[in-house]
Amino acid sequence: MVRLDHVSKSFGTHRVLDDVTLDIPKGTAFVLLGRSGTGKSVALRHIIGLMRPDAGRILIEGRDIGPLDARGLTEVRKHIGFLFQNAALFDSMTVGENAAFPLRRHTRLSDHEIRDRAQQKLADVGLEREFDKMPADLSGGMKKRAALARAMALDPGILLVDEPSAGLDPITSREIDELLVERKRAGTTLVVVTHNIPSARAIGDELALLHDGRLVARGTASELDRDREPLVQAFMRSQGGG
Ligand SMILES: Nc1ncnc2c1ncn2[C@@H]1O[C@H](COP(=O)(O)OP(=O)(O)O)[C@@H](O)[C@H]1O
Ligand SMILES: [Mg+2]
Repeated sequence: MVRLDHVSKSFGTHRVLDDVTLDIPKGTAFVLLGRSGTGKSVALRHIIGLMRPDAGRILIEGRDIGPLDARGLTEVRKHIGFLFQNAALFDSMTVGENAAFPLRRHTRLSDHEIRDRAQQKLADVGLEREFDKMPADLSGGMKKRAALARAMALDPGILLVDEPSAGLDPITSREIDELLVERKRAGTTLVVVTHNIPSARAIGDELALLHDGRLVARGTASELDRDREPLVQAFMRSQGGG
């Protein structure tokens, strides 16, 4: 379970998150919507402990991560996969080494086991044949898949995904959505930030719209479709890509 409990965060005088409370039940997919610059990435960074709230608490599996030191946070982060917006792979490593990276860093598995596991994670995203390729030789969609394989390397219970459709064509974007839905079926809790409403509908058990620091609407896609708030209607009717 992921919980934001009355979380506020400001940068200077700009209050980006204003008393945001949010519960994401285990094994469900939550989609955070909002215009650019509304604080969606900031919210994800709080969940993984890269930013600390000015007020309020972040709870992961019932545990307040606020008091944790660097070592405690590292421990929590092993259970959280993070797929960054630009899916940055390490360019100087092969795709296989990228997928293996978290295993080398956080486990004591043998080289052989690490290779097997990385290979399995790449197979899960349809990249079984790209193990020895360099990131520069992959398409945008393949890079995103490889980054997903790396994010899933430690079998995290929670996966955070920041704008998975950004820069992808609609078909590739749908393929990524399907992989995310598969992760959810396998039991992973998903928190996905997107502008892409078809994606949000495909992935999200629940959607919420962040605006002016607050969650102005929250519910299933069909509940939000019936919401009378003009901003919510504008979002739900858009087909917006990126
Ligand atoms: N580290 C930071 N320092 C100062 N301002 C920041 C920082 N990170 C984000 N912001 C500001 O917070 C707001 C929300 O940013 P962000 O969460 O990245 O938006 P988005 O919803 O597009 O992901 C923006 O105005 C951004 O400039
Ligand atoms: Mg962002």
